[in-house]
Amino acid sequence: MNRKYRKTVIAGNWKMNKTPSETKEFMQNLKALLPKGRWCDVALCVPAICIPAAVRAMRETRVGIGAENCNANPSGAYTGEISTGMLVDAGCKYVIIGHSERRAMGETDQDVNAKVLSALEAGLIPIMCCGESLEQRQSGITSEWIAMQIKLGLQNVPEEKIRKVVIAYEPIWAIGTGMTATPEQAQEVCESIRTVVRKLYTSKTARTVSILYGGSMNEKNAFELLAQPDIDGGLIGGASLVPEKFVQIIEAANQPTV
Ligand code: 13P
Repeated sequence: MNRKYRKTVIAGNWKMNKTPSETKEFMQNLKALLPKGRWCDVALCVPAICIPAAVRAMRETRVGIGAENCNANPSGAYTGEISTGMLVDAGCKYVIIGHSERRAMGETDQDVNAKVLSALEAGLIPIMCCGESLEQRQSGITSEWIAMQIKLGLQNVPEEKIRKVVIAYEPIWAIGTGMTATPEQAQEVCESIRTVVRKLYTSKTARTVSILYGGSMNEKNAFELLAQPDIDGGLIGGASLVPEKFVQIIEAANQPTV
């Protein structure tokens, strides 16, 4: 982390877990446990149907609510889809874009880019995900692959808007497997992502972009991961479903930074 230049963000991704009633209960429990200090931004990205309950419960707190996906079109004949404008109206602040689980359902880098542009236009903070498979890591193409995902995902994002974008590095092999990337592995890729942003924009701008790590991050390994200079927070799946664990990760972000 580096709090001098950029925000630390601890974000949960609930995936397809919890009902609206369970959301209400979770948020009440979380509220009671939330630390008083304000050392980082906290976000919870929840299933679309849970957004109203989450927003209602967290209205007077520092926790921002987000969606897990969006449609890039403003409106129209897209049965079952949700636009970024709808998310804003429902009280969302964030939206996860291009999660590997959605890419596995056919989402392309072009789709990711259109969604990022639409989210920014609507005033949402996009959490744009990237990450390599185990096969790609083993064949030594991780940094090239990630660089391509970042370049395509950020196409036509103007300099003044890139500061709003949060990037999440999530190695696919570490998601839900308990196989966390080592702090060194995660740092290496997060640093390379910042280099890509530097080349696309300026070094001053690259310094301001928050880059998160995700993939089996939990209350035990968070401190060490967050101690890395280019890891500005976490995108947390499983451990964000348990208030006590999520709070411990927020607390792990309370450490001295450069
Ligand atoms: P886990 O923390 O459950 O590995 O999930 C990570 C993730 O995919 C967050 O988006």
